[in-house]
Amino acid sequence: MAEELKKKVMVSGIQPSGDLHIGNYLGPLRHWPEMIEEFDCYFFLADLHTITVRQEPAVLRRRVLELLAGYIACGLDPEKCTLFIQSHVPAHSLLAWVLDCYTMFGELSRMTQFKDKSARNADNINAGLFTYPVLMAADILLYQPDFVPVGEDQKQHVEICRDIANRFNGVYGDVFKIPEPYIAKVGARIMSLSTPETKMSKSQPEGCVFLMEKPEDIMRKFKRAVTDSDREHCVRYDPSNKPGVANLMQIYAAATGKSYEDIEKEFDGQGYGVFKPAVGEAVVETLRPIREEAERLLKDKAYLQSVYRAGAERARRVAGRTLGKVYKKVGFTEP
Ligand code: TYM
Repeated sequence: MAEELKKKVMVSGIQPSGDLHIGNYLGPLRHWPEMIEEFDCYFFLADLHTITVRQEPAVLRRRVLELLAGYIACGLDPEKCTLFIQSHVPAHSLLAWVLDCYTMFGELSRMTQFKDKSARNADNINAGLFTYPVLMAADILLYQPDFVPVGEDQKQHVEICRDIANRFNGVYGDVFKIPEPYIAKVGARIMSLSTPETKMSKSQPEGCVFLMEKPEDIMRKFKRAVTDSDREHCVRYDPSNKPGVANLMQIYAAATGKSYEDIEKEFDGQGYGVFKPAVGEAVVETLRPIREEAERLLKDKAYLQSVYRAGAERARRVAGRTLGKVYKKVGFTEP
């Protein structure tokens, strides 16, 4: 037990707003199975965040189970970490309200994701989209983590979480641990295959490769991947001048563990016609066992239910402790 208490804590989540893609996997998720061996880890399905953009209820219900199966298939053994659905732990919403009152309008207005998403959903710029980072801060701070493993695009949200926590601690003493973002060097920002200047994202499916996609579809997307129009046609890591090639190299490096130097040597003298299918094949082979395991798990709904129920029970206990402390500090009367 004492050993358990000393372990460092990690928290992260993914939105079940679409299927898992290789940005989610090669960025943060592929590192999580190593982390559960060493840290006390909480990984959740961020369904509360998902409704900031309109969702089809039946599709959301299905995606939550698919994402949970995806987590387990990627190697998150539920016996070794806490896997749960965000909406099953009411403390997330309750703490978010308190933190809303310690977050400034101006700092939320500066969030890049808010600006991007409100541009893309101009007919539905709701208050939830605006206060999204506060809910995310609550998700994190409830578990008093040391690290938050995310991709590059979520760094700004972890930073605002730190600012909110510091502001709160400044008033009430050391209530929250101040977490660090934990961003992998390779895979932190996987770009779209069709427009390599933009991040790979489920909202642009043409340039996005999904974990559950059929191998032939994955191969087709890689063969069509945008490279560059220079005459050199050589595989060289140069993100400013050859963003498409650099992105494919990043994907290949993340999937195989090879360095950029090794990849340059491997494809020396060979054109993109050889390189692109090789990246596709490496991705197909990386994803094959995950897809097969997720398909198997999805047939066992009772097992998935037992996993998320046990996870929520544990998460509620831990989150409840932090929420209780916060309520006391701000002066709420004990019920
Ligand atoms: P989400 O669901 O958009 O993405 C989940 C994780 O995948 C990373 N990611 C990427 N990494 C590399 N390249 C890409 N193209 C790429 N696209 C996505 C994200 O950085 C993220 O780590 N707000 C979060 C979910 C969330 C959360 C949290 C995360 C809610 N509460 C608390 C950590 C802690 C989100 O929308 O991620």
